[in-house]
Amino acid sequence: MIELQNVHKRLGDRDILKGLSVKIPKGVNYVLMGPSGTGKSVTLKHVIGIFKPDQGNVYVDGQDVPAMDQKQLMALRKRMGYLFQNGALINWLSVGDNVALPLREHSRISKSEVDDRVHEVLKLVGMDHAAKQGPPDISGGMKLRAGLARALVTNPEYVLYDEPNAGLDPIISHQIHELIAEVRDTLSVTGLIVTHSRACATQCGDRIGILEGGGIGIEGSVDEITNSDHPLARAFMGMGSD
Ligand SMILES: Nc1ncnc2c1ncn2[C@@H]1O[C@H](COP(=O)(O)OP(=O)(O)OP(=O)(O)O)[C@@H](O)[C@H]1O
Ligand SMILES: [Mg+2]
Repeated sequence: MIELQNVHKRLGDRDILKGLSVKIPKGVNYVLMGPSGTGKSVTLKHVIGIFKPDQGNVYVDGQDVPAMDQKQLMALRKRMGYLFQNGALINWLSVGDNVALPLREHSRISKSEVDDRVHEVLKLVGMDHAAKQGPPDISGGMKLRAGLARALVTNPEYVLYDEPNAGLDPIISHQIHELIAEVRDTLSVTGLIVTHSRACATQCGDRIGILEGGGIGIEGSVDEITNSDHPLARAFMGMGSD
């Protein structure tokens, strides 16, 4: 379980998180929504230990993340994949080498084992044929799939997805959402998904929390939030939202 307790964070001259508390139980895809600049990406960075709270606690499976030393953080990041917006691939490395990166960082495993694992995850996301291609030569949807393969290559228990469908058309987005649901169902990965998209929330989410004023303004199951009269729920999940 991922748990943030009363997290406060000031960045620059602004209080971004002001007592954020949220629990993400194992096995679910938790969707974090909220207006731009409310601290969604900042929240993900707390979970993975890039940011430390000014006040409050962050736990992953009961382990105190801000208290971790560098070695413990490396171990945590092996258990936790991170899908960056647009995949964030390195342009001068092939897709296959991009996917292999976390393995080379984290583990002392042989080249042939790395190759096998890269092949396996690329196949999982339907990108097996593109291992040798460079990121500049592939479409946005393929970049995202490659980013997902990279997030999954260490066989993580958790994956943090930062706007997994930004800039993608509805058809490709739908495929990505199905893949995120499949990752939960077949690999038992717990997901924390930041998105503005109602389609994303309904197609691959279980619970939704919407950030407001530095904390969770409303939280519930996808059905509860879809049917709620709360203004934020209406704004993100109501008719006319996309
Ligand atoms: N390293 C940093 N230093 C200073 N301010 C920062 C830093 N990182 C984020 N911020 C500020 O914190 C606020 C929240 O940023 P964050 O990236 O979490 O927003 P977000 O909710 O993910 O928005 P979006 O939907 O646009 O991605 C923003 O005002 C941002 O400028
Ligand atoms: Mg963001």
